[in-house]
Amino acid sequence: MFEQVEVASPDPIIGLTEAFKNDSHPEKINLGVGVYKDQSGSTPILECVKEAERTLLSQETTKSYLAIDGSPDYGRYVRELFWGAGHPLAGDPRVSVVQTPGGTGALRVAGNFLHKIFPHKKIWISNPTWANHSNVFQAAGVDTENYPYFDPAKNILDFDATLRQLESIPPGDAVLLHACCHNPTGVDPDRDQWQRIGEVLVERELLPLVDFAYHGFGDGLEEDAAGLRILSDVVPEMLICSSFSKNFGLYRERVGALTIVATNAKGAASALSQVKATVRANYSNPPAHGAAIVNTVLSSKELRSQWEQELAGMRKRINEMRRQFVETMQAKGANRDFSFIQAQRGMFSFSGLTPAQVDQLREKYSIYIVRSGRINVAGITPQNLGRLCDAIVSVLT
Ligand SMILES: Cc1ncc(COP(=O)(O)O)c(C=O)c1O
Repeated sequence: MFEQVEVASPDPIIGLTEAFKNDSHPEKINLGVGVYKDQSGSTPILECVKEAERTLLSQETTKSYLAIDGSPDYGRYVRELFWGAGHPLAGDPRVSVVQTPGGTGALRVAGNFLHKIFPHKKIWISNPTWANHSNVFQAAGVDTENYPYFDPAKNILDFDATLRQLESIPPGDAVLLHACCHNPTGVDPDRDQWQRIGEVLVERELLPLVDFAYHGFGDGLEEDAAGLRILSDVVPEMLICSSFSKNFGLYRERVGALTIVATNAKGAASALSQVKATVRANYSNPPAHGAAIVNTVLSSKELRSQWEQELAGMRKRINEMRRQFVETMQAKGANRDFSFIQAQRGMFSFSGLTPAQVDQLREKYSIYIVRSGRINVAGITPQNLGRLCDAIVSVLT
């Protein structure tokens, strides 16, 4: 039976990683992947994580199942990171948190939930967005539509176009918004724009689904939560899909959360019951180890402070590479202004390189970039910066 199965098209980013691995060029550069890289080009385990794992190894007493919705302590830390420990929503029964296998798991459970409860409603995603968004929602049976987001001529948010589309979406549909560090453009709404987005969502009776995968990678833990907080002040209900893959470097441990904000405790409990039914039918209950690491770090004053420093280190390195990239491109006489890269935030930027230029970079210089022109700024290091900029200048001219 299996021989007759049509081969699925490979994920373009994973395919790029494979091609990179097979390339024997000694100075090859990979700006395609979606993971943080340090100065030396590796993806390290954070020190606070290592320390927490040592504690877990000596103190953990069972490997029995977690509850369907995971660890209650974990849920509390997720909420406190979103809103701050003193905020009403950090303890309000109108909020429920479900621990999920990564941010992708949260998105998939959200998709299953939406499809089950509102089978004819669609979800609107930005154009462009993380390639897996449409994949995940369509696999869950939810139809996707696009709203315009990015102005490629000016490399900024096309806010008028975004708003115009939001204003015409039928009531009851969901709208996916990136809380910060928009993947792939690095362009986020400012505070006023978040406020306006919130108002339109309320006017149109739309359900926001906020994807929060890069908390702390933009400007800081507080700053990066500003959009989410503005939105949750304005809208009555929302879903939040979050991930500790990037900010704790826990990628393969699969640590995420689906948070339900309802109008009242009854709504939160009803929605939670349906989400739990979805989880039970999907993977029964979440993996424990990654979330136990997060709990251990966030429950210790010392480890939490160490985590914040390590996170700041990753953020500062990325923002420094943005600055140096812009400076070096200018110094090397690029025929284009790249200063927009410095204004963007998070791991990714839209470089403006065309698919043909991306192909040339790979064929001539062994530099790997997604064909949309999205670059992972964390893939730039002081060692490869010069060679990278020379190559880009050469394909631009
Ligand atoms: C925008 C966005 N959302 C969600 C995710 C999923 O993260 P996770 O690895 O935790 O599943 C990613 C990962 O790259 C992402 O970029």
